[in-house]
Amino acid sequence: MATPATSVPPSVVVHPVHSLQGDIEVPPDKSISHRAILIGSLAEGRVVVSNFLRADDCLATLNAMRSLGVPIEDTESGQIVIEGVGLYGLEPPMSTIDCGNSGTTMRLLMGLLAAQKFSSRLTGDQYLRKRPMERVIKPLRQMGAQLRGQDGDRLAPIEIEGAPLKSIVYDSPIASAQVKSAILLAGLYCDGKTTVKEPYKSRDHTERMLHKFGVTVEVTELSASVTGPAQLKPAEITVPGDISSAAFLMAAAAIIPGSELLVRNVGLNRTRSGFIDVLKRMGAELSGADVADDGLNEPSGDVFIRGKERLKAVHIGASDIPRLIDEVPIIAVTALRAEGTTVIEGAGELRVKETDRLSALARNLSALDARIEEKPDGLIIPGPQRLRGGAVDSFGDHRTAMAMAVAGLFADAPVTVTDTDCVATSFPDFFKLLREVSVER
Ligand code: S3P
Repeated sequence: MATPATSVPPSVVVHPVHSLQGDIEVPPDKSISHRAILIGSLAEGRVVVSNFLRADDCLATLNAMRSLGVPIEDTESGQIVIEGVGLYGLEPPMSTIDCGNSGTTMRLLMGLLAAQKFSSRLTGDQYLRKRPMERVIKPLRQMGAQLRGQDGDRLAPIEIEGAPLKSIVYDSPIASAQVKSAILLAGLYCDGKTTVKEPYKSRDHTERMLHKFGVTVEVTELSASVTGPAQLKPAEITVPGDISSAAFLMAAAAIIPGSELLVRNVGLNRTRSGFIDVLKRMGAELSGADVADDGLNEPSGDVFIRGKERLKAVHIGASDIPRLIDEVPIIAVTALRAEGTTVIEGAGELRVKETDRLSALARNLSALDARIEEKPDGLIIPGPQRLRGGAVDSFGDHRTAMAMAVAGLFADAPVTVTDTDCVATSFPDFFKLLREVSVER
């Protein structure tokens, strides 16, 4: 299946396959890896992180915390050892902190750095510098933070003047774990309770991890609070596999008949597992995902998928989106193999991800002759449809690249995905693993 194209180095040609077969592990969870480094750095003592994701986004967070004076060692045993400096032990960075492509790095750091006694500056790559930052600047300002962005405070680079912060109750207009986490991290430095309310529950890794480090965290269905000033005791963190990475392989196995794939140690936090529910609603044959979730620890399990000839279309609405926000690209591709019309609504947030993912999907799938309708906040995808081969682009976005690679597995002819370096953001060995599980036609 996936062979590197000779003419354009960062392109990959994906050939149609017979099926997928294998017993695999996917990379560690990106969201949890970021938080292990950020929160671990604030602990009072040694924090050992096992199964940390060594991909560009999380390495940006690791380097950022090193530049703030936190000793972090990538040991030969594979564990990351952080000598936590406590809430007040960070040092001023020598230069601008580069968050690369990582929105999580930038937005969470904004919350953390706003509360320091020194100033700092955050920047990112050409994609990150186009993503909205006022969603974090606004609540942090209400807490007393001194931050300034570019272009009317909408964009990075962000200048931060550390200042004493006060706790707030913030009613967030969007369900965003990055916004929520930035406020909760700032809240660690405040006197009293800082609360974030959201319209739908976003991923809760920050809340779970802060609780593990001994912070007073209160959670309701649509709110999360921390009480400061906090003191973080050391803890050990083991990161489960990333369901958002697993989703590409799970979807591919579900829609290619004859496939049998076991994905081991997948994170199954219920604020992240909307994709599994969607596969089930589509009639996919899937087992092992029904693990208990106590809301405190990060649950994981081994998920088995058997391919089926046809799935059923689904309707995905605004309340479903936060639990599968990063899986919409692969759900759109999966919908091409489903009977009926799949409707995805309330997904306007996809327009401000690493690229405009709704537009990228519509353009790429149209280029392969698929019928797909792009709406301001979603997609309409009739099915089943056949795809012709052709060339598609990642638009610099890892999840667009991987979703289109899966399209190539069942198209009538090879699909060339251009500009694939971006998979290093979350899943550096994606094409290698895809080759390993692919059975040729
Ligand atoms: C993330 C939250 C989500 C998600 C992103 C990672 C996180 O973003 O899309 O890939 O780790 O907090 P939003 O908070 O902007 O929805």
